[in-house]
Amino acid sequence: MRIDIITVLPEMLEGFFNCSIMSRAQKKGIAEFHIHNLRDYTFDRYRKVDDYPFGGCAGMVMKIEPIDRCISALKAERNYDEVIFTTPDGEQFDQKMANTLSMTQNLIILCGHFKGIDYRIREHFITKEISIGDYVLTGGELAAAVIADAVVRVIPGVISDEQSALSDSSQDNLLAPPVYTRPADYKGWKVPDILLSGHEAKIREWEFQQSVERTKQLRPDLLK
Ligand code: ADE
Repeated sequence: MRIDIITVLPEMLEGFFNCSIMSRAQKKGIAEFHIHNLRDYTFDRYRKVDDYPFGGCAGMVMKIEPIDRCISALKAERNYDEVIFTTPDGEQFDQKMANTLSMTQNLIILCGHFKGIDYRIREHFITKEISIGDYVLTGGELAAAVIADAVVRVIPGVISDEQSALSDSSQDNLLAPPVYTRPADYKGWKVPDILLSGHEAKIREWEFQQSVERTKQLRPDLLK
């Protein structure tokens, strides 16, 4: 899978994609991340990517020309399944959307900034608008990183134990059960006996019950 990210803050994303599992996914040849600096698609000496809004309201708006040049250059090279725009007024991102996007080949993610982007970009280029939650970030970069991470980690082979992506909280609408590691007794705080019993079937049943209990308590909305 290939993900092209268009941003005015490439340095914010480069570190992220060169770490840990995202970096490993690239080394394994499963995912490619290409970060494009929107300022490289400007033609003026100030490399201007924003301008005052028509109508005189406050804030700056991302200009249409550099975004058009960048997206058009990418689309001339290959077909894209989705051209995503990160914005707080987009569709709410969730595991189901991550799973669906993980089955695509090529994605563009345009990171929003300033007061917004010239609306014609949304009308003519964007195929999917995504919000990662009901709060407003200073820019779309963190949202792009969240989306790319959640999408890529469910591609088979990215996480070494494939089971672990499938048994996540939210894949089955249940929160994960508690997990423990050694020592079994730390300052008198003990790991539940059942986990030390070696009884595989009973352990799985206990985990399931814990998942249901935690979901009822913490996220009853998931059980509806
Ligand atoms: N840009 C600013 N806030 C955002 C959010 N909550 N989701 C996606 N993009 C954003």
